[in-house]
Amino acid sequence: MIIRSTISLLLMGVLLAACAAPATVPAINEQLVRTMTVYKSPSCGCCTNWIGYVEEHGYTVTVEEVPDLAPVKTQYNIPPTVQSCHTALIDGYIIEGHVPVEDIERLLTERPDVVGIAVPGMPVGSPGMEVASSTPQPFNVMTFDRAGATEVFSSYHQ
Ligand code: CU
Ligand code: CU
Repeated sequence: MIIRSTISLLLMGVLLAACAAPATVPAINEQLVRTMTVYKSPSCGCCTNWIGYVEEHGYTVTVEEVPDLAPVKTQYNIPPTVQSCHTALIDGYIIEGHVPVEDIERLLTERPDVVGIAVPGMPVGSPGMEVASSTPQPFNVMTFDRAGATEVFSSYHQ
């Protein structure tokens, strides 16, 4: 009896460890949608750099070049305080500006009740904004909701 319960306890331990593993080890989630549409201005080079960066990380991108991005920002409720150059649509969310892939993956995994995430402006050193001669700037990734409220999603102090 004692042996049997010891074995079942051991088994439980193994099962619990197996269940706990995905929460502690950030594994690549094969189920995520990695197809996006990016709205950008035809003349913007940093947008092209960011598109290359997400493509390198396994995303498939459809590019929509538009002469004026203001109507896009209005249509997708992007608060002026978090706006950047390009606007991407992916799996029901908006990705605004030079957002790192890690944050996109976390957004699509956790699926918070927000419109999207943004890196406001164009901080030097963010993905697609690397400038060899300049010191990278610290930057935040912000969430924004339907009411225009923003919150810090993650911080990069490089
Ligand atoms: Cu840019
Ligand atoms: Cu851009």
